[in-house]
Amino acid sequence: MDLDGSEQDPEMKEYSSVYVGREEDIKKSERMTAVVHDREVVIFYHKGEYHAMDIRCYHSGGPLHLGDIEDFDGRPCIVCPWHKYKITLATGEGLYQSINPRDPSAKPKWCSKGVKQRIHTVTVDNGNIYVTLSNESFKCDSDFYATGDFKVIRSSF
Ligand code: FES
Repeated sequence: MDLDGSEQDPEMKEYSSVYVGREEDIKKSERMTAVVHDREVVIFYHKGEYHAMDIRCYHSGGPLHLGDIEDFDGRPCIVCPWHKYKITLATGEGLYQSINPRDPSAKPKWCSKGVKQRIHTVTVDNGNIYVTLSNESFKCDSDFYATGDFKVIRSSF
């Protein structure tokens, strides 16, 4: 499906939307994996919203499709099954807890490392789900595992 006319422009083809599955299926499984233009992504359906991101964790390439979703600081995150890094579903930010060493009584507080996991766009059309890869030009840490020798793990889903 060519939602944006990019089939006419080979340079933009990588950013054309790709059909990944049926809405009724992801609503049951709450997650699915797909290869979109040679990039493996995971799509989550969580509390009525869709989120897509690179499947391999920005830290060391852990399989995010096998992680649990939990809220931290009121933000739904995927928790990487390998070393428990927390990544916000909506923005791909890495979250961590910090304390002020000069104030030992202070409670740890949740902070953001910034966007670490590349987030992609999910669209739903007539019960079909499509993913469009992010073309934001910033260098995202998860790109390392989404390209080159490390790309594409076989998912067990
Ligand atoms: Fe994901 Fe280390 S690989 S936390």
